[in-house]
Amino acid sequence: MPGPSADNDLAQLLEWFSEEGADLPWRRTRNRWRVLISEVMLQATPVERVLPYYTAWIGRWPTPADLADEPLGEVLAAWQGLGYPRRARNLHAAAGAIVAEGWPKAARLTDLPGVGPYTAAALRCFADEEDILPVDTNVARVLARRFPDGWPGAGDDAWAAGQAFMDLGRLWCRARAPRCDEGCPLRDGCPAADAGTVIDLTPARARQGRFEGSLRQRRGHLLRELAGGAEPEISRDPDAAASLLEDGLAQRRGDHLVRAS
Ligand code: ADE
Repeated sequence: MPGPSADNDLAQLLEWFSEEGADLPWRRTRNRWRVLISEVMLQATPVERVLPYYTAWIGRWPTPADLADEPLGEVLAAWQGLGYPRRARNLHAAAGAIVAEGWPKAARLTDLPGVGPYTAAALRCFADEEDILPVDTNVARVLARRFPDGWPGAGDDAWAAGQAFMDLGRLWCRARAPRCDEGCPLRDGCPAADAGTVIDLTPARARQGRFEGSLRQRRGHLLRELAGGAEPEISRDPDAAASLLEDGLAQRRGDHLVRAS
């Protein structure tokens, strides 16, 4: 059970979000399809750049059936400029799967092409309002600094808390230039800020920039991990993982990549 200090953290976060949370179009819906489109776009592209694409996509393809009916070439053309077009292919394939079989049950959302554990958690929190925190690179950084023992959950306020974490990680609890004393709503009680270790608690990948490397570099990175016996999560870098799978250089086991046998 969350204790009194956790209740207080949640109250601070929610109050801050209600006053200062970003007004983003995918926050005005609980529709799974819209949330999926936004989250897939946001996997590798900054918010500002996603905005016009999101609006265009939901206008043009308001349901999975609309997208599934569209020739892939049109879909890829509409993705131009966002980068990592494999995401558009996956959305098109996901639309087809949803039309054919309906939405998977919550625990099986990762069966959809392009949906890893992060995106599945985002659908469950931001569309279904389940008490699940979607942890991307930014949120992982907030947790490492502010909640090293884990996030206790937010009950009925999970949607707002999840969105608040997104803003906090993106705009305040930044990797290299954190704004602890410029209005961070969780500055009080932050063990990293108190100890002066905020920058140190920047996970290596965030420091480097999530999608800065070329696909080739990122494939190389995953391949080295695989060679060392690791089984990286596909959601960490869905495009690089998909390209290794396509080339037969790795195999899939559940949500993870394993070495090709
Ligand atoms: N990045 C991923 N999901 C997001 C969301 N819902 N709002 C802002 N940034 C995000």
